[in-house]
Amino acid sequence: MSKQRAKLVVGNWKMHGRLAENATLLQAVAQGASALPGDLRVGVCVPSPYLAQAQSLLAGSRIVWGVQDVSAFTHGAYTGEVAAPMVVDFGASLAIVGHSERRAYHRESAELVAVKTQRVLEAGLTPIVCVGETLEEREAGATEQVVGTQLDEVLAKLSVQDAARIVVAYEPVWAIGTGKSATSEQAQAVHAFLRSRLAAKGAEVADVPLLYGGSVKPENAEELFRQPDIDGGLIGGASLKDQDFLAICKAAAAVVGVAG
Ligand code: 13P
Repeated sequence: MSKQRAKLVVGNWKMHGRLAENATLLQAVAQGASALPGDLRVGVCVPSPYLAQAQSLLAGSRIVWGVQDVSAFTHGAYTGEVAAPMVVDFGASLAIVGHSERRAYHRESAELVAVKTQRVLEAGLTPIVCVGETLEEREAGATEQVVGTQLDEVLAKLSVQDAARIVVAYEPVWAIGTGKSATSEQAQAVHAFLRSRLAAKGAEVADVPLLYGGSVKPENAEELFRQPDIDGGLIGGASLKDQDFLAICKAAAAVVGVAG
């Protein structure tokens, strides 16, 4: 199963950015990415108020855009929520669901994450479904059980055709924003496990992109992206700096270029 898949690098800005600095960042990234060779896809997930800005500055570039969460409902009396079809109105194509920060700080259950994934797919967007274990869970030897259950809850609600449209991001909670990335061996081991769970759903699902997230930096990106089951990255802090984000995209392009 060492089939070569295209690399995908997505920035997750989290709750950062203002109009002026976003403009500088988006323009620099769009311009820098245009020069990159290879079978590489690049995306940014911005705070919802900046979707229109992303649309106007990224349209026509190789960069796609999206959001970091959506409502589990399509419309209605849900004050403060943003529905997936609204996101589509701004030309977006991506929506992160189940980020560990939402699971932890907003008490999102595995069931809710699965429903949100369905809403995202129904709207025609690509969901980036995040899974990951805490440090305590890893130390207790429960990593596979935790990420396997998180993934299975989502897969159970999807047809094989819909499951083949998702992207999965493995983000160990202990590696997010800590500067302490998983080693490439640790990440590859979990990715291989997730790949086997995806394959169990159906042959068409086995090759969905599997991104690694958690302290990806220009210095460690290429080593991570070289792993056979790591198809790219979901980048937090480093996606806020154009040079760092572009260096990470370049690392992905280099791996595709060599292996392709
Ligand atoms: P950092 O890259 O800042 O560790 O964040 C990773 C992340 O949570 C991306 O979704």
